[in-house]
Amino acid sequence: MQRTLVLVKPDGVKRGLSGEILSRFERRGLRIAALKMVWMDKALAERHYAVHREKPFFASLVTFITSGPVMAAVIEGREAVDVVRRMMGETDPIKSAPGTIRGDFGMELEENLVHGSDSVDNARQEIANFFQDGEIIAQKD
Ligand code: RTP
Ligand code: MG
Repeated sequence: MQRTLVLVKPDGVKRGLSGEILSRFERRGLRIAALKMVWMDKALAERHYAVHREKPFFASLVTFITSGPVMAAVIEGREAVDVVRRMMGETDPIKSAPGTIRGDFGMELEENLVHGSDSVDNARQEIANFFQDGEIIAQKD
């Protein structure tokens, strides 16, 4: 069983797609183990995207991700990290296949609707940036 961090990005929240996006993960058979709306501040955004600190798009990325609230979720299930990434599509929505979230709802590289952790180690760190242990609800059965 894996856990991964999903963010419905500010564009997705503004367009009213939070439910649609989270519903896709649920319908697939993944479980929401934690969920909250967060308006990320600059410090959290820079921590979340720390690996991109040196990239030319970093400042723009931080401005965008802090431009409105995100829906932050811990998504749990078998191979959750990989399954979520496949369901998201490619980083650039233009290159994303229909049927993926970005391929169905996006056209812009920056406004690509959703974030998903790209490895189990990064997922652990990213989840800790957003949630305390007590906010994550373990499955009963
Ligand atoms: P994310 O981290 O948001 O889930 O997206 P990702 O793994 O698919 O893509 P990543 O390489 O981690 O890049 C993070 C976000 O930065 C923006 N980006 N802009 N201008 C550019 O060349 C460029 N490259 C990436 C995208 O919005 C991407 O989601
Ligand atoms: Mg990434």
